[in-house]
Amino acid sequence: WETGGKLKFRLTGTLALSVFTAVLGSLEFGYNIGVINAPQKIIEGDYNATWMYRYGEPIPTGTLTSLWSLSVAIFSIGGMFSSFCVGFVSEWLGRRKAMLINNLFAFIGGSLMGMAKLCRSFEMMILGRFIIGAYCGLASGLTPMYVGEIAPTSLRGALGTLHQLAIVTGILIAQVLGLESLLGSEHLWPVLLGLTVVPTVLQMALLPFCPESPRFLYIVRCQEHHAKSLRRLTGRQEVGDMLAEMKEEKRRMDMERKVSIPELFRSSLYRQPIIIAILLQLSQQLSGINAIFYYSTSIFMKAGVQSPVYATIGAGVVNCAFTVVSLFLVERTGRRTLHMLGLGGMCICAIIMTVALALLDSVPWMSYISMLSIFGFVAFFEVGPGPIPWFFVAELFSQGPRPAAMAVAGFSNWTANFIIGMCFQYVADLCGPYVFLIFAALLLFFLIFTFFRVPETRGKTFDQIAANFHQHSAGGMMDMDMDMSIGMGMDID
Ligand code: GLC
Repeated sequence: WETGGKLKFRLTGTLALSVFTAVLGSLEFGYNIGVINAPQKIIEGDYNATWMYRYGEPIPTGTLTSLWSLSVAIFSIGGMFSSFCVGFVSEWLGRRKAMLINNLFAFIGGSLMGMAKLCRSFEMMILGRFIIGAYCGLASGLTPMYVGEIAPTSLRGALGTLHQLAIVTGILIAQVLGLESLLGSEHLWPVLLGLTVVPTVLQMALLPFCPESPRFLYIVRCQEHHAKSLRRLTGRQEVGDMLAEMKEEKRRMDMERKVSIPELFRSSLYRQPIIIAILLQLSQQLSGINAIFYYSTSIFMKAGVQSPVYATIGAGVVNCAFTVVSLFLVERTGRRTLHMLGLGGMCICAIIMTVALALLDSVPWMSYISMLSIFGFVAFFEVGPGPIPWFFVAELFSQGPRPAAMAVAGFSNWTANFIIGMCFQYVADLCGPYVFLIFAALLLFFLIFTFFRVPETRGKTFDQIAANFHQHSAGGMMDMDMDMSIGMGMDID
């Protein structure tokens, strides 16, 4: 924790346990992103069997494709709906209780998917995917918010990155367990999908031992036992300095009215940070990362890679490894630099990938180059655009507007995710090897935006970050590392 310019913090048992427990939700989120890729053909076979059983004829190809696309995409629709409710739910129930109750969705969703084969019902599978998507939408807002609020300033980025680390670990576990020789087989796929309830049980068992966010208790609920939570999290008896900081934030917040979603856009105080928050989320999704994660097998096949399934797992491993790299760099290098490094690197990899794919027919070894550029693309994603947008939104806003801002950011993220999931295949068919040039252009745009508009938040308290925007909106001088008023025609008011 920062006191008088000095860093004083200890990673206490309670803090570690609370962060671990919260990111179990992220693990589950990742698991459900990754789980659907490998067993596609086998589950489709079961949809066909159900159709035969019901109607006595094989399922028409068009119907099968629609049912499958729906099973995949409805996950993001669930996420879109629920992420929009993050603000309301987290204020109503509190962060901890909201996470606890959210597990109900995971139970219902996991059970529906796990029982779908037994009950010969693809409707159960589709409904299950929707409900588990709803779980993930809430988790994708609640986890970074809780972790951001309980983390000491100097560790906020590193602990925030653990959300993404748990997501990518979940994706990798799902990819490995989804191998046909493990759980991705005709008989075992219901177990593969039902396994999603395991982290849920663990999270429900551990949450009662984690303290509620002291910032929420004090600043929002005006409850006095926040000091006890703070002592548990920091392992210190003397928490006066932190209480003073929270008091200052509360004093400011009491002067403001409660911030609703429309107000985020109307008020000149919040317009700038909310635009940054939305664009960061879009930079994550429109980078094209999920084109790789949802369709990796067919992309690797087109790239001439021998064993596409193992290449997909390779991408999952690179994904995890580079999230760890980001974890260690984020408090040293800062969010802005890492985000720009990631976007720039992805842009270059996308161009190399395009050249390699275009030359594949005439130069056979180009398949290696395309595989390496895909790995590079994933690696650069995890350096910045993967982890940073998730926790950056919680950093950009103070306690009052934070829940509404998390909802808007989460909704933007899930909507963009849905659009990529639905459209990539069609656009790829249209553009052939040149499809990644679209992402390269978008990446370049986000890089320029970040350079001109995104401030550095490392080492600053929530209050200092908000004060910088306030000062700016009041026409004062900006003292963040970056002058956000340059160029691009976006007024700071
Ligand atoms: C981020 C994205 C998610 C993506 C994942 C890949 O968490 O939000 O959509 O699949 O990274 O690692």
